[in-house]
Amino acid sequence: MDIMKRENLVLVLSYLLITAGFEVYAQNYDYSYTAECLKNPLKPQYNGGIVVNPELNDDLNGWSSFGDAKIEHKVTNDGNKFIVASERKGPYHGFSQNFQLEKDKFYVISGWVQVSHGDAHSVAVIFKTQNGFEHAAWAIAKSGCWSMFKGGLVVNASGPAELYFETNNTSIDIWADSISVKPFSQEEWKSHQDQTIEKVRKSKVAIQVVDSKGMPLPNATISLIQGRANFPFGCAINKNVLNNTAYNNWFFSRFKFTVFEDEMKWYSDEPSQGKEDYSVSDSLLKLCKSRGVSVRGHNILWDDPKFQPNWVPSLSPQQLSAAATKRVGSVVRKYSGQVIHWDVVNENLHFNFFESKLGQGASANFYRLASQFDKAPLFLNDFNTIEEQKDGASSPANYLAKIKQLRAGGYNGPLGIGLEGHFNTPNQPYIRSSLDTLASAKLPIWITELDVSSGPNQEGHGFKP
Ligand SMILES: *[C@@H]1O[C@H](CO)[C@@H](O)[C@H](O)[C@H]1NC(C)=O
Ligand SMILES: *[C@@H]1O[C@H](CO)[C@@H](O)[C@H](O)[C@H]1NC(C)=O
Ligand SMILES: *[C@@H]1O[C@H](CO)[C@@H](O)[C@H](O)[C@H]1NC(C)=O
Ligand SMILES: *[C@@H]1O[C@H](CO)[C@@H](O)[C@H](O)[C@H]1NC(C)=O
Ligand SMILES: *[C@@H]1O[C@H](CO)[C@@H](O)[C@H](O)[C@H]1NC(C)=O
Repeated sequence: MDIMKRENLVLVLSYLLITAGFEVYAQNYDYSYTAECLKNPLKPQYNGGIVVNPELNDDLNGWSSFGDAKIEHKVTNDGNKFIVASERKGPYHGFSQNFQLEKDKFYVISGWVQVSHGDAHSVAVIFKTQNGFEHAAWAIAKSGCWSMFKGGLVVNASGPAELYFETNNTSIDIWADSISVKPFSQEEWKSHQDQTIEKVRKSKVAIQVVDSKGMPLPNATISLIQGRANFPFGCAINKNVLNNTAYNNWFFSRFKFTVFEDEMKWYSDEPSQGKEDYSVSDSLLKLCKSRGVSVRGHNILWDDPKFQPNWVPSLSPQQLSAAATKRVGSVVRKYSGQVIHWDVVNENLHFNFFESKLGQGASANFYRLASQFDKAPLFLNDFNTIEEQKDGASSPANYLAKIKQLRAGGYNGPLGIGLEGHFNTPNQPYIRSSLDTLASAKLPIWITELDVSSGPNQEGHGFKP
């Protein structure tokens, strides 16, 4: 396998040398992302890529106003130069730069923003293309320091595109600096993936074969059989796996990790108040255990008002607090030590059922509570963070902010990042940039519910971010 791979690499390299002359082939990918808000922005990634005047060191060259706003070039006391848009007449009014974008390229977008007032303004980085508006990144901007954003863009058709910034509060000024728009060919992108696979997923192993006295046996023939996949590759299951032999065989011959679609959720375990019924999730868990399949605990509570047990929405805040507290203790104690993770307050970036009734600290309280009954890492779990760049609610920047909120709310135990991953057309540079952003939290990141809706040319959309 390894040797095959090397031969392929040699072939690829010689092909490139022939076709590309002395051109440097694959420019390295910059995986960095800085989560701290800094007094001065860092240098633009890739020296700005195709951005003209990325550091704003050459006055406003390359930049123009977008919509109705006043744009200015400013310099701080310590000499940092940047662009400012003020007197903005609407969310998208500010500054912009024009690009010619190519259809088959992957664009990585990064930069730094600051605002004149406030400490948590969502800023969207958007490209106006011939086919419409394409979101490329999100930042949460503050006044007094610079926040980094990182995202990605693919375009439908080659042509002009205009990069601009949107923030909904028109009474604040937007500042920007160290902007980078870096195109990669798909071959370059693939080479980054291959480099990472070499580095992270492979290692060299030395095997010595000895006889019963411990003497080395030269030239022994050995064979290796993979007993278990190391990479946690799984699939959701539901109760039908208990009785449907074909489904059961299909699942257990492929996967070592799972979640139950509905069977461990509150509405399944306590369909009417006080009448707990864990029989189906017990059977599923027992079956998985007997087949060596690890189970994620999904989920303790769900912040979406639509998915509460039907007796829950009419509870008073006091009753809800008591019922939810009981639920957390019940399911987590019951399965303590038997699941590998818990999704504690599912989808709490998009929804706030518990916060709306019990106050802003509700999620953090439930994480704290759950941690008293089990040592398994407690996860956030949400959708659209890597799969829908138009959705600011669960943007990587907002995800990091939610983690901070849980920490500030007093939950300091093990935490994990759950990404549901319901894709239409995966936007690879956006996915990779989002993972870079989330990685700054230094927490485990799991794609928890991967699916790709069917569409034309589906097999043509590579998946590895
Ligand atoms: C806009 O931002 C300013 C500064 O942070 C704040 O005082 C004001 O309340 C905000 N306006 C709205 C409508 O949120
Ligand atoms: C690509 O272009 C087609 C046709 O113009 C349009 O229907 C589709 O929504 C576009 N997709 C994106 C991601 O822009
Ligand atoms: C501005 O508000 C609209 C409507 O709520 C929302 O769709 C959009 O994402 C917001 N933009 C930003 C940059 O937060
Ligand atoms: C091991 O195999 C190599 C290559 O087949 C051969 O040259 C060598 O003599 C062998 N060594 C022993 C100790 O049999
Ligand atoms: C599976 O079959 C058993 C025996 O027929 C039955 O008792 C049980 O309810 C079935 N379970 C499910 C989830 O259908």
